[in-house]
Amino acid sequence: MEKRNQAAKLIIGAVVVIIAVLFLVGIVGGHDVKYKSAPLSREDISYKQVEAPMASAENGIISSAEWNAAYSDIVTTMNRNAENDEIIDYLELDPYLVDIYDGFGFALEYGSARGHSYTLDDVNNTKRPHGSANCLTCKTPYFNRLAENGNVEAYTYDFNEVLDSLRADNGEAISCYTCHGNEAGSEGKIVITHSYVPKALGEDFAGIDPSTLSCGQCHIEYYFNKKELKADGKPTLETSMPYHSVEEMTPEAIYDFYTAIGYTDWTQESTGAKLLKAQHPELETYLTGVHAGTLSCADCHMPVEQNPTTQNIYHSHLIVSPLENKTLLETCLACHKDLGAKTTDDMITFVRNIQSRITAEETRVGNLLAEFKKTLAQANQSGKWDEAKLDEIRELYRKAQWFFDFCYVENAEGAHNSELATRCLNTAEQLINEGMALLNDE
Ligand code: HEC
Ligand code: HEC
Ligand code: HEC
Ligand code: HEC
Repeated sequence: MEKRNQAAKLIIGAVVVIIAVLFLVGIVGGHDVKYKSAPLSREDISYKQVEAPMASAENGIISSAEWNAAYSDIVTTMNRNAENDEIIDYLELDPYLVDIYDGFGFALEYGSARGHSYTLDDVNNTKRPHGSANCLTCKTPYFNRLAENGNVEAYTYDFNEVLDSLRADNGEAISCYTCHGNEAGSEGKIVITHSYVPKALGEDFAGIDPSTLSCGQCHIEYYFNKKELKADGKPTLETSMPYHSVEEMTPEAIYDFYTAIGYTDWTQESTGAKLLKAQHPELETYLTGVHAGTLSCADCHMPVEQNPTTQNIYHSHLIVSPLENKTLLETCLACHKDLGAKTTDDMITFVRNIQSRITAEETRVGNLLAEFKKTLAQANQSGKWDEAKLDEIRELYRKAQWFFDFCYVENAEGAHNSELATRCLNTAEQLINEGMALLNDE
């Protein structure tokens, strides 16, 4: 009896000890068990179907604050885009631009982009003139909501009136609605809310991955349509994409498109040239580069992170440079280990070297272009030149400036597609040489 009791006590004791050990390991090691090791990927996210909150704004847009209860990590990270607040003055950095953009708003002010939180402040404060409300196309979902259902009239609404009314109605800068409509609750489904995108690319978006196209609503080359007319007979000035397929997203094809429709952004008085201003063709540059088809913009700019307290895994909506984010750099190595980068530091060096090479070329060609412009302006103003001959040179200048600009204004400095950057700069230089030869002929 005594022995049986002792044995039973021993067994109970052993079980208690084992349970205690398992429990302790559970607590201490629980972190390791649940906390996924980097790099995390989209597959680690558990997508939620949540009830959409009520929109308090009159325009029906659910605000980021209203989504906070369902997606606090995403809202918090999106709001952190305000940390990216620096503006580089490109006119000070590259003074040759003042010559190239002479006669256009960008010669007055051209600062670098910063975080998405600042779009409304920056568009409001710019010294460049505001044509109409179409300037708000890429700054706030409130505008895109106005332009929905074929309301192209919205593009010519008064800029200040629209800005005032959106501010009175809780209007935000770029927000959830921009990329998800009011559908963020449906597992974070991407919704393209800028109506000119399906208009240009068709309902299947030319086969482009929606998560990439969510960025490609704005990070593109565009123009304000002067050919299509409203009921009052005036141009719609609708924001428009100058192509219908990925194949046409090259600087060559876009140039031909603009020339065919007789489009110009401004006539430069000093040279008499009818010029184009390229915008920020990130989508076009990336889609014709080496990562198209394997990585989306989000894969390189929105790291998948885990909240250490709740263990929630999500796409960070703080948009970052992959070179400044350890998590993203780790994802590069999955392929780049076989392409010569052993460590994340090697990865940074690899990309920075490409950018230095492209930036140096850009400065060299930019200065040649400014020289070409000044020489052409002198010829134009001398009154000694035959108009037909001048037109021939102006055409070379227009084209050279377009190819130069297509590279300059793309924000990755060759990192998205160094082959395209090089091709643009080489083409520009060749055209400058042809033009200078004609000018020096006389
Ligand atoms: C600039 C575009 C953009 C904005 C603005 C944006 N998202 Fe996203 N969102 C994305 C992209 C891209 C993904 C990733 C899609 C993928 O898996 O490739 C995503 C993913 C998600 C997901 C799926 C879960 C996950 O972590 O991937 C949810 C939910 C979500 N977003 C909610 C929101 C909410 C809420 C807001 C506003 C606070 C918001 N998003 C703002 C582009 C955006
Ligand atoms: C509604 C239009 C719009 C959409 C959609 C959009 N962007 Fe932007 N983005 C902008 C504008 C405008 C700025 C510049 C804001 C400023 O300077 O005030 C910007 C700035 C940026 C910057 C900062 C650039 C710098 O030099 O610091 C990055 C990076 C960026 N966007 C990447 C993305 C990515 C990646 C996506 C898709 C997930 C995306 N954007 C979707 C309009 C957009
Ligand atoms: C293979 C990864 C990769 C993909 C895919 C990618 N980018 Fe980038 N992007 C980069 C790198 C690298 C830089 C340079 C960052 C730096 O200079 O610090 C960059 C720079 C940028 C910048 C300038 C802001 C900055 O932080 O320097 C913008 C804006 C941008 N990308 C937008 C996009 C958009 C929009 C897409 C999709 C159409 C896209 N990127 C696709 C890697 C990528
Ligand atoms: C799915 C595989 C894959 C991943 C992941 C990947 N890359 Fe690449 N990357 C490639 C390939 C393939 C090339 C082409 C290499 C060559 O031509 O030698 C390349 C080339 C590049 C280039 C040169 C592009 C050019 O046009 O010169 C840059 C810059 C680059 N990668 C940056 C990145 C960064 C930054 C990341 C991580 C955020 C990344 N890559 C992730 C496959 C990948």
